[in-house]
Amino acid sequence: AINGQVNPSTRIDCYPQPGSNQQTCQSRGCIWDSNFDSSNPTVPLCYLPTDTGYTGANGAPGTYILTKKAGSFVNPYGADSGHVIVSSQSIGKTLNVRFVDQSFANRYEPPIGIPKNPSLSNEVLQFNPNSVGTQDPFYFTVTRSNNGRNLWDTSIGGLVFSDKFIQIATHLPSKNVYGFGEAIHPSIRHDFSRYTTWAMFARDEAPDSAADLDTKNLYGVHPFYICVESEDGKAHGVFILNSNAQEVTTGMGPHLIYRTIGGMLDLYFFPGPTPEEVVNQYLALIGTPMLPAYWSLGFQLCRWGYQSLQDIQAAVNRTQAAGIPLDVVFSDIDYMNHDEDFTTGSAFAGLSQYVDQLHDQGLHVTLIFDPAIEVDYDTFQRGLAQGARFIEWPASYPVPSTNSLYPMTANTKIMLGAVWPDRHTAFPDFLDETGATDQWWAGEFSTYHSKIKFDGIWIDMNEPSNFGTNQASSGHEGIAPLACPLTGSNNALDSPPFQTQAVYLFGNGNYLSTKTLCMLGKTGGGSYDFYDTKNLYGWSEARATQKALNTATGKRGVVISRSTFPSAGRYTGHWLGDNTARWEDLRTSVIGAMEFNFFGIPYVGSDICGFIGIPTMELCLRWQQMGAFHPFSRNHNIAGTPPQDPAVWPLVAAAAKKALLFRYHYLPYLYSLHYDATLYGHTVLRPLFFEFPSDSATLTLDKQFLWGSAFLITPVLTEGAESVDGYFPSGANNDEVWYSIYDFNYAQATPPGPNQLPAPVTSMIPVHVRGGYILPRQAPATTTTAAKTNPFELLVAIKGARGAGTAQGQLYWDDGEASPSAVDGTYNYYKWNFAYSETPMGAQLTLQRVNTVNGMSVPTLDIIELFGYKFSPSFQSFALDGNPLTLNMSSSFYNGPL
Ligand code: GLC
Repeated sequence: AINGQVNPSTRIDCYPQPGSNQQTCQSRGCIWDSNFDSSNPTVPLCYLPTDTGYTGANGAPGTYILTKKAGSFVNPYGADSGHVIVSSQSIGKTLNVRFVDQSFANRYEPPIGIPKNPSLSNEVLQFNPNSVGTQDPFYFTVTRSNNGRNLWDTSIGGLVFSDKFIQIATHLPSKNVYGFGEAIHPSIRHDFSRYTTWAMFARDEAPDSAADLDTKNLYGVHPFYICVESEDGKAHGVFILNSNAQEVTTGMGPHLIYRTIGGMLDLYFFPGPTPEEVVNQYLALIGTPMLPAYWSLGFQLCRWGYQSLQDIQAAVNRTQAAGIPLDVVFSDIDYMNHDEDFTTGSAFAGLSQYVDQLHDQGLHVTLIFDPAIEVDYDTFQRGLAQGARFIEWPASYPVPSTNSLYPMTANTKIMLGAVWPDRHTAFPDFLDETGATDQWWAGEFSTYHSKIKFDGIWIDMNEPSNFGTNQASSGHEGIAPLACPLTGSNNALDSPPFQTQAVYLFGNGNYLSTKTLCMLGKTGGGSYDFYDTKNLYGWSEARATQKALNTATGKRGVVISRSTFPSAGRYTGHWLGDNTARWEDLRTSVIGAMEFNFFGIPYVGSDICGFIGIPTMELCLRWQQMGAFHPFSRNHNIAGTPPQDPAVWPLVAAAAKKALLFRYHYLPYLYSLHYDATLYGHTVLRPLFFEFPSDSATLTLDKQFLWGSAFLITPVLTEGAESVDGYFPSGANNDEVWYSIYDFNYAQATPPGPNQLPAPVTSMIPVHVRGGYILPRQAPATTTTAAKTNPFELLVAIKGARGAGTAQGQLYWDDGEASPSAVDGTYNYYKWNFAYSETPMGAQLTLQRVNTVNGMSVPTLDIIELFGYKFSPSFQSFALDGNPLTLNMSSSFYNGPL
């Protein structure tokens, strides 16, 4: 504090909504600074005085009772809680700090039943309450025990706890902060040179990567971040478990301010100390991701706007004719009859036979299903008959006259909306705990599956999206729009005192219910307010849909969801939504995919070539090349635009074929990474700082990414490029080796540090393998089904001075789709070790069978490729369990020392 003033870099905005001026500011007891600094217009001029907060006293053992402290600030968003109880507990090495108030009964907690498994770490975090028993404001720190570093320090002030406005703020140990979503981040590391507020409220909102800074909240909500604390590379993570509309401000301090409009403060601190361990610890808490079916690692073709089955067939045929690998054929809402779920339109009458044909070729099919159900056909009728619940108006609220338009809703309290179908729709209540809703949902999928044998399910519009809420017209098929009580005696939830940037950013005429349902709706079979659970809609639909898919198909399959929440990865993957065919969107999709790996949803990708707009050939080519390295690799396009599947342009077809055949070659490695994600909470895609956090040059790198630890991808993300810049860490011991494997110039390792690599459109984008790793692979084919039966190969890339080194690797192997999850142990698991010897014939490659399943047929290991070993090896000398290994000698080869 300077003369009672707070330095511009460490302020807590006291007017986090439009309309701040001296008078409005001071009327809430805050400090007004008239020195507007045009060089940093984001500095809050109205800020909280530092005496705001609570005093602390000892409560029951391990708890503290906070009492509201008198101060100049008058909370404009409601009465302050008189007493707040603070407690802390450990879940393994994860530290949980909770602020629960006593004044408001029955505080809402997200009903998501996360596993909360204890985390592992070799480091410990400590919770330190401060000023307990004094008149000074209570604050706490979370410290890293072995170096005393403060990871959180709430002495910055700003604690506010009221029914519909809760705020907490903290100093941060560094500006290396990553995460929080879902939003478009122009750089993977957050920008602390300014104040920035990101809302977290699930919304049907297309990302705008071309804006200078697009802070809009998108489809999902992920209140989780990772912070790399200092040059020592140690990292921690923080998760705030809350499903209300919320926002986070990052400030120059560096500091952050978190606000939510309901629930409580339930904070989880993860000690790391590596970024990857932070994610492991986070996923121990919230649950590890589902294992996608093997076929879903293949290339996928989609678009909105196929006019008929023949359009799909034409796109598939030209892709196959061009020799481009293809595994999954999608249909968007076009296949439905009038956009009604579980129906087939007449232009797609032959879909069932076509799906069977695709199956015969080893391909698979994913269909879209939207949550909103038209209220005048049999699916809805069965839902009512089976006791399924839909989001409703509260019992006491007068039901709008629209319900009487339809016989089936006339006597219900169901809240009606407008989505794609041409009549009103109802929104299944997937939080209904009786199970009736999920059962009806699964039943509809099973019935439809008996007609059309789809393999995967795409769930969309599940924020949930609703057209025209609170507007004069829904803008869709003449359907009367939904009107929420924005004024009057019932508006407590629809017009709360504080509405977050999710509303303020969009300006006048916007509300929490804009593009969605009314906040006073009832979910959980009447137990919850939609105000509290809105952010869980996609999560709950994903949970129900994964179950439905498993039941209908008897297989693992895969679900892709637009809206997600922490732990949604247990049930679903994600695509990054309605991007645009622009270079900026290609760049931000690299960041987005890495962020969703932080969030425990590693099966992620962007709409390749861009959804909105028309891509140039070059953009589409570069996107196909980059997208070949995203776990979910799908080309998708909006209706009404020309086709953009890769076979449309010969040059794109050639590039896609090359990149995808390369991907298919390494699918056993990619699949093994997904197994590691499912079993241990690992990331699949990760930024370089995850592997090299103490190399500060990596902290801002977001144009390259890794598959696991071993595979570095350097995509081309700019127009007209003939080359691309990449960074190749030398590692803590200065001994990293990066073998270039994309241009078949194997013996050349790329030297550590920054490099400019050739990348003409006719080549592949650069891919490097890191010395010290053994990668399992199989010769590619145009389907994963065919490739999966090819003999195994090993790429052994040695790390060590002058080729005297070692390498390790692993492979998980199963049938690819039958077992519903990895955790049931129905997989083979192998580990390889390559050990160097100074005698030319003495090197050893050994295999350890860690887990094997009787009767599982496993291809033979026929080919070994060895990089960087000092001697030309005799491949016959390699042993498998002590027995000589029979290799295909004409294909095994060796690339000598560097
Ligand atoms: C939404 C989806 C998009 C889909 C469209 C039609 O905009 O995000 O992927 O194609 O709806 O279903």
